[in-house]
Amino acid sequence: MDKFVIEGGKRLKGDIYVSGAKNSVVALLPATLLLDVPCVIENVPDISDVEICLTILRELGASVEKLREGTYRISTLDVTSTEVPAELARKMRASYYFLGALLGRSHRAVAAMPGGCNLGERPIDQHLLAFEALGAETTLIKKIDNDGTAYIDAVELKAEHLYGSNISLNVVSVGATMNAILAAVKAEGITVIENCAREPHIVDLANFLNYMGAHISGAGTHKITIEGTPVLLGNDALEGSVEERIYSVVPDQIEAGTFMVAAAATRGDVLIHGVIPHHMKDIAERLQECGVTVEEVESADRQEVCIRVSVSENRRLHPTNIKTEPYPGFPTDMQPQMAALLCIVDGQSNISEQVWEDRFRYVAELRRMGAHINTTHDGAIIFGVPGLHGARVKACDLRAGAAMIIAGLAAEGTTEITDIYHIERGYSHIVDKLRGIGADMKWISE
Ligand code: UD1
Repeated sequence: MDKFVIEGGKRLKGDIYVSGAKNSVVALLPATLLLDVPCVIENVPDISDVEICLTILRELGASVEKLREGTYRISTLDVTSTEVPAELARKMRASYYFLGALLGRSHRAVAAMPGGCNLGERPIDQHLLAFEALGAETTLIKKIDNDGTAYIDAVELKAEHLYGSNISLNVVSVGATMNAILAAVKAEGITVIENCAREPHIVDLANFLNYMGAHISGAGTHKITIEGTPVLLGNDALEGSVEERIYSVVPDQIEAGTFMVAAAATRGDVLIHGVIPHHMKDIAERLQECGVTVEEVESADRQEVCIRVSVSENRRLHPTNIKTEPYPGFPTDMQPQMAALLCIVDGQSNISEQVWEDRFRYVAELRRMGAHINTTHDGAIIFGVPGLHGARVKACDLRAGAAMIIAGLAAEGTTEITDIYHIERGYSHIVDKLRGIGADMKWISE
């Protein structure tokens, strides 16, 4: 039972570096199954979801070699299996990307229903709609639990052949958009995906596959067009070359946002490196509404544009309202962290959660620290208090865990956060990174 122990009330100050995006890399790693050459992926975050993806790849028969910290050479040329080991698939939500990738590669895929954070019901009907549109037959493998209730245990996909098709999603779904791309990239003919999600990780998946020879256009808009290509060999520029293509994972929008909010909540002054400023627009605007200074500044070596977040030490912050929406709206994955900040502003803030119904389990934990929050059927009303106090709290899920860290950093006294395995799923070296900007935070193994 590992835990984080935070002595709060320290102003965060200094430079912090963002890792590659969790939500992107968990799709890029399965996408290597579609390649007909090995590739090298760098800026891979050191998180447990990546470990699971790499283990699945190895179990399927891929060769995975760690070249250095955050850089892996992956060859899937010898993969023959089409079944994702069930115990691994159940460990994370993103295991369902192996369904799209294996279907695209081998025209068959079997995977257990995915696990991951418990944020409410997590349907995959839109994924299945996309697979079926491309010509796959989908079978839901059912089992009976101890109470005699039938539940879906796994999914099997089979196709004689995959044909390009028009896929119109009924809900904007990141997962279904990613899976439709993975399954369609090698299908014969043209696929058009409409009403797709536009998150930065979708653009990153398309960029990666295009870099390896795919023909995907429109990623980042509501309509993606894919011209199927039978082999993915890297681009022509490398023809006859023995060099492997090296792809770098896009910076993590949510990790960067978490650091921005942590800086604001501790009345800090933090320079965030390795971030793509336009991905942060909505988060920056909400913070500015609270009275936080958010600026784009050049790094000292003038090599990159960073984001500086600062609040003068005794400044009181204002409330704001948040409504989570698909990108470019306010990300659901930043909602708990922002709530932690809004607990200590002057006045009342409203949060409306439009993506996941069960994303407020962190409220009970923040209340232990002195927060005043009422929940509604799809939201929360936060009444700002002058300050929080340390307490023993739980990371209920990944982003709820990040909210506990922010609350602990801002609170007076000692906060102990348990169930930190949730946080390890998505934040690379979080303790070292926050200590580097002045946090008094320890990782304790019990
Ligand atoms: C969602 C978030 C993503 C976040 C992740 C983890 C959006 C649009 N997506 O992605 O930013 O990183 O959670 O917190 O903000 N849905 C269906 N049928 C399906 C698939 C989804 O009805 O087949 C519904 C879901 O119930 C949910 C919504 O669509 O209400 C968005 O789901 P989706 O984007 O697929 O979820 P993730 O890919 O997990």
